[in-house]
Amino acid sequence: MTGLVVAMDGPSGSGKSSVSRGVARALGLRYLDTGAMYRAMTWWMLEQGVDLADPAAIAARAGEPQIVSGTDPDAPAIHVDGVDVAGPIRQSDVTGAVSVVAAVPEVRVRLVALQREIAGAGDIVIEGRDIGTVVCPEAAVKVYLTASAEARARRRSAEVAGSTVEAQQAAMAKRDTLDSTRKTDPLSMADGAVELDTTALGLEEVIAEVLRLVAERRSPE
Ligand code: DC
Repeated sequence: MTGLVVAMDGPSGSGKSSVSRGVARALGLRYLDTGAMYRAMTWWMLEQGVDLADPAAIAARAGEPQIVSGTDPDAPAIHVDGVDVAGPIRQSDVTGAVSVVAAVPEVRVRLVALQREIAGAGDIVIEGRDIGTVVCPEAAVKVYLTASAEARARRRSAEVAGSTVEAQQAAMAKRDTLDSTRKTDPLSMADGAVELDTTALGLEEVIAEVLRLVAERRSPE
């Protein structure tokens, strides 16, 4: 298993986190949530009062926060300058601002370097938007998860207290447009990626399908 990298990309609500953690657990691999790193950078920018309407202001501060990600699929952890931000990075202020911060090239260069450092040793499932295209283009297994906009919004609203499916669908559409149309490393399907539509599938079925792909790639005909 040495060196195995599984790259998991797709839009919000496609099931990336649950599937990635399940696959990592089943195979005894590490797990990295790169979205949490963009969220941590955004949390820090908000704390610092950086003007998020000004990409140059974001770029100028992108090198400052020390972001440390855990890789245990059973206990995902993330710290910024020693502060545990696992809770705050899921709050609506961060969710509403993260696409803007993630579009700034200086932010991406910094976080992609950190992600490559962590992924370097292999034995990891790594999830995000640009893993198969930019962070780990050499990954042995690349998966692109999709689901209908309604299914994705339904899953997300079940996770966020007090939200409606309609409100989630509108917010996600806005975020997905920003993530797919930005100039630097937009969300897109990598060469060699296998697309899996999860709309009508349960979590265990998707995990089983990814495990099947891993087994196939590890012992090709
Ligand atoms: O997966 P998520 O919702 O936690 O991601 C948060 C944001 O970060 C999302 O707007 C897209 C962005 N992101 C990115 O640009 N590149 C990645 N590799 C991961 C996430």
